[in-house]
Amino acid sequence: SNPSLLILPGDGIGPEVMAEVRRIITWFGANRDLEFDVSEDLVGGAAYDAHGKPLSDETMAKAQEADAVLLGAVGGPKYDDLDFSLKPERGLLRLRKEMDLYSNLRPAQCFDALADFSSLKKDIVAGLDIMIVRELTSGVYFGEPRGIFEEGNERVGINTQRYTESEIERAARSAFELAMRRNKKVCSMEKANVMESGILWREVVDRVAKEYPEVELSHMYADNGAMQLVRAPKQFDVIVTDNLFGDILSDCAAMLTGSLGMLPSASLGAPMANGRPKAMYEPVHGSAPDIAGQGKANPIACILSFAMALRYSFDQGDEAGRLEAAIEKVLADGVRTGDLLAGEGVQPVSTTEMGDAILA
Ligand code: NAI
Ligand code: MG
Repeated sequence: SNPSLLILPGDGIGPEVMAEVRRIITWFGANRDLEFDVSEDLVGGAAYDAHGKPLSDETMAKAQEADAVLLGAVGGPKYDDLDFSLKPERGLLRLRKEMDLYSNLRPAQCFDALADFSSLKKDIVAGLDIMIVRELTSGVYFGEPRGIFEEGNERVGINTQRYTESEIERAARSAFELAMRRNKKVCSMEKANVMESGILWREVVDRVAKEYPEVELSHMYADNGAMQLVRAPKQFDVIVTDNLFGDILSDCAAMLTGSLGMLPSASLGAPMANGRPKAMYEPVHGSAPDIAGQGKANPIACILSFAMALRYSFDQGDEAGRLEAAIEKVLADGVRTGDLLAGEGVQPVSTTEMGDAILA
């Protein structure tokens, strides 16, 4: 039977960019003999409007069953005053948590045609293609104790950086597996100089590395890593790091490449019975309420997220490469959505026209 794909377009520009992905999925079915059983459901504000919560139990169950989940974006001003537990973002967090998606893949890839868009000089970023693997389910965002407590006559805010060996091990393994499919180079980042969790991180990564003798492993303190990402990002291929450092380093790396409208991501968990990892793919950007409903959104981040699904869930690396090459070509031809305009009188295309160009 065909692999199954659960599509959760969400809010704002989510449904607009997802409509272009659906056309591309249809194209693969018609032209490349690559068919998916696609179902679509609600998440975020859209789910709240329909069911009174940002993710229904039925949708959660479907996500657990699907071979991959593709999500657009959630949120919007309409939902800003909702109770914390009902906010659109909670739908997304529930998916990540219950699917136990511990490995967050954030590529920073600079398409040649967009090298001028980087925050950095062109020669520093042209041809850049790195992947940050961020541990997503543990560390300081989750560790106990946490809270704001009374201490003497003042308050203290506490969060705990906590990593078990098995949590580090599975994140590390996912980075090494990835490196084997890329350029066999991993740089692990922590702060073993000042943090016990960093010492353990380094030790466990070294241990996992023994299973991958072909992969060249280096270690770097995360603060130096931040400097190196800006100074000479092309020295890296796969970077593996914890939840907090990964949050910051991946946002930093993202800006090496230009617009938010270009950035995909994957969140992977443990292998399912069929050998595929639990997986959710989504653009890095949000629901962009400022441009929603105007046909201006750049669909490329969402389309590249589907390309990641082809590569990491469906073993279709060649077809993913074909899709990425189509995007590269369209950008080289000068087709630009509004977010990609350099401002020299180029007319922006609509979301659908960008989809048309990529399909063509
Ligand atoms: P945002 O990513 O939605 O927008 C930031 C800026 O980038 C806006 O000016 C927007 O127009 C532009 N932009 C984003 N994606 C674009 C695209 N594909 N094409 C063209 N321009 C694009 O972040 P913001 O404004 O901070 O948040 C808006 C809403 O989205 C909030 O409710 C927030 O909570 C939610 N959000 C959801 C995320 C998710 O679903 N994963 C991630 C980030 C924010
Ligand atoms: Mg962040």
